[in-house]
Amino acid sequence: MRPADFDYICNYVRTQAAIVIEPGKEYLVESRLLPIARKQNFESLDALVDNLRANPRSELHKQVVDAMTTNETSFFRDLHPFEALKKYILPELLVSNAASRQVNLWCGAASTGQECCSVLMTIAESAPQLLLWKIQFLATDLSKEVLSQAAAGKYSQLEVNRGLPAPLMVKYFKRQDDHWVFDESLRKRISFCEMNLVKDWLPMPNLDIVFLRNVLIYFDVDTKKAILSKVRRALRPGGYLFLGGAETTLGLDDGFERVVFDRATCYRRKP
Ligand SMILES: C[S@@+](CC[C@H](N)C(=O)[O-])C[C@H]1O[C@@H](n2cnc3c(N)ncnc32)[C@H](O)[C@@H]1O
Repeated sequence: MRPADFDYICNYVRTQAAIVIEPGKEYLVESRLLPIARKQNFESLDALVDNLRANPRSELHKQVVDAMTTNETSFFRDLHPFEALKKYILPELLVSNAASRQVNLWCGAASTGQECCSVLMTIAESAPQLLLWKIQFLATDLSKEVLSQAAAGKYSQLEVNRGLPAPLMVKYFKRQDDHWVFDESLRKRISFCEMNLVKDWLPMPNLDIVFLRNVLIYFDVDTKKAILSKVRRALRPGGYLFLGGAETTLGLDDGFERVVFDRATCYRRKP
């Protein structure tokens, strides 16, 4: 791809979504954008980028940003956070929130929804009393495309093979043609909404737990700091933040304390 086109895409994606594309990643940009160029009948990537430049407000820009997101996810990804939920955090919530009988959760980079399903299955299996409470579970992502799959709760065989234990698949998923659909009574407890972490945030209740896993890695230090500061203010004191294995609040926001539960690390908002 032409160097100026690569720069144009990198700048655009960085200003819109804060995603940093390193120099030398031309192959990545090409492989993500070629399917859009073909679908929209452009004869080349050059023609696609020319069109973007000529129509700065076109819907095509959104498709380009969507295509540059990495949506890799799986059920019970990294396992340990879900063990910590089951063994320590949900039992703690059952006591701390007993008076309000309400739990507020937010999954801030929900992708195709496997993470939210895993959280709800953990609740249903280990703290089913919580299902009798009011659960406000917001799941957001920048990408409209992944969220539509998340909202449908529909997964291929390949997707359920990644991390979903067979007994939970049988219990919480229904076979529909060649797909598996997540239990509707659990799925309808989640509100799926588009939200860009670096633009205005939706109004949120005082959060008990935030899952913001494997997304900060795409941002620069100042963006990470700004997002963590907003997360801290959205969490109630004592509320928990789960990040991805390669992410931390250390050196970025000292309003969190690092908490280790067996093999899981999470971050608690300081009082
Ligand atoms: C690698 S996935 C992580 C999915 C899940 N949290 C997990 O850990 O398995 C990263 C997600 O972050 C989303 N994302 C990237 N930049 C974003 C932004 N600026 N605002 C909101 N979501 C963003 C992507 O669309 C993608 O679905």
